[in-house]
Amino acid sequence: MADSEALPSLAGDPVAVEALLRAVFGVVVDEAIQKGTSVSQKVCEWKEPEELKQLLDLELRSQGESQKQILERCRAVIRYSVKTGHPRFFNQLFSGLDPHALAGRIITESLNTSQYTYEIAPVFVLMEEEVLRKLRALVGWSSGDGIFCPGGSISNMYAVNLARYQRYPDCKQRGLRTLPPLALFTSKEVGKRHRPNPGLLILISSQLSRDLPGLLPALPTSSKASLPPGGCASFQSRSVTTPSRRELRFWDLAPTVSEWSRLMREGKWSPRIWRGRLVWPRLRLTFHFFETFILDSGAVPFLVSATSGTTVLGAFDPLEAIADVCQRHGLWLHVDAAWGGSVLLSQTHRHLLDGIQRADSVAWNPHKLLAAGLQCSALLLQDTSNLLKRCHGSQASYLFQQDKFYDVALDTGDKVVQCGRRVDCLKLWLMWKAQGDQGLERRIDQAFVLARYLVEEMKKREGFELVMEPEFVNVCFWFVPPSLRGKQESPDYHERLSKVAPVLKERMVKEGSMMIGYQPHGTRGNFFRVVVANSALTCADMDFLLNELERLGQDL
Ligand SMILES: *Cc1c(COP(=O)(O)O)cnc(C)c1O
Ligand SMILES: *[C@@H]1O[C@H](CO)[C@@H](O)[C@H](O)[C@H]1NC(C)=O
Repeated sequence: MADSEALPSLAGDPVAVEALLRAVFGVVVDEAIQKGTSVSQKVCEWKEPEELKQLLDLELRSQGESQKQILERCRAVIRYSVKTGHPRFFNQLFSGLDPHALAGRIITESLNTSQYTYEIAPVFVLMEEEVLRKLRALVGWSSGDGIFCPGGSISNMYAVNLARYQRYPDCKQRGLRTLPPLALFTSKEVGKRHRPNPGLLILISSQLSRDLPGLLPALPTSSKASLPPGGCASFQSRSVTTPSRRELRFWDLAPTVSEWSRLMREGKWSPRIWRGRLVWPRLRLTFHFFETFILDSGAVPFLVSATSGTTVLGAFDPLEAIADVCQRHGLWLHVDAAWGGSVLLSQTHRHLLDGIQRADSVAWNPHKLLAAGLQCSALLLQDTSNLLKRCHGSQASYLFQQDKFYDVALDTGDKVVQCGRRVDCLKLWLMWKAQGDQGLERRIDQAFVLARYLVEEMKKREGFELVMEPEFVNVCFWFVPPSLRGKQESPDYHERLSKVAPVLKERMVKEGSMMIGYQPHGTRGNFFRVVVANSALTCADMDFLLNELERLGQDL
């Protein structure tokens, strides 16, 4: 260590350092890994916040503690944390524990470097390039660029920034006030994933809402004045009453309600169900709307963000059709495949993303379905003109000297707006080395098989109502408790059904038996979303899940 000042106790005592770390690794292996992934143990140990504060004894004091106490602290941290690797953790879009990825994370942490220059991260700079190349090849690109970002939301935000910069390359010099108002299109389910970040995009709007609402289009001409130059305003799209409980998608939402109803009245349009959702038979209509409402309002459309694997329902946008539209109108096509990108590894299911090779940018989170561990999120670009560096670079002369003794193109720091950047490639690379494409493909396919098993088992039981036939490994359903069965016609049925999931959630968390997320969605009241992502899952876990819901909800 270069620091000459000796730290108290451990730092000067290599034997004690080793003893501590071996002991900690022992605790990690026993408590976090073995118990943390065992179905005979709880998935979580619920405590009320005040009690938890007491139990953890969080206060930091002037006096240091003994190694024995420190090890106790490590055990307590693990005991009261949620075991996201546990087979009964269905709560998030990630679950499970891959030992090779974990090994990669431990090495990354131990080496403690930043990814910005070849000088201090030679191995990881080359490795990142190779991993990104592999991900791009799966998208269908033989060349391009990319970067690991701190999460899919940042990857999406970068895509927006890049699209704007590509269209207005002088915006950095001239300032955003010189740009016209811009409009981007994205699906209604996007929520905060495209929530503009004022610091990065300088998106200002009095109407900027917490959740960037779906489709920016429904702007009445009168809102022209509130479109800020250079930024993206967010507009509440007019509410659309859905004729069915099916999911409404980006392209479906474009026409206003009145237009929609008029067309339906005149018999010119009728909804068609395709793979469990409504589709517009004629995209042309959408673009009539697009031209009328967006172009007439003076806003310049510059980007469409399609989603491959939506967060709640796990739906896939029709990328070929969207790419056609983008091509016709010269729009940047971004595909948010944060959740669904890993399906590209499966020969059986990758057709869900057909057309993705026509995108300009793709966001893909290997920390979700591939279980690489948080965080691992890639932004992939088809661009070969160094757009990332031109758009985000600041040429900090103390890091990125141009007269270095090696190829300075290897310094990736100027591709991002961060300075220091974590090493996110090793965990994925090591896991991929261990599994091969084939091992990863088997995992994806297995997840699809288990999700299907769960659905079929649900259909055999009373009390489970599917929200829709899943396209992916998100299984969305209502648990209908005994008192509500056969009462579909009663006026307060939906209101009462909506109260079931929160009650069951409380019960399962307090017992620590499993964790499943729930949410309302559009006009639908609270329903459960089981995410079948953990590669350790078996049919027995699916049966357990159904039995446990029945057990927890039998008195409701
Ligand atoms: C999870 C998710 C994101 C956000 O990714 P983070 O890494 O959590 O920031 C974006 N888009 C979709 C579709 C997602 O499922
Ligand atoms: C990691 O690097 C920081 C400086 O950036 C240093 O203070 C710390 O001691 C290092 N930790 C390890 C575990 O090497």
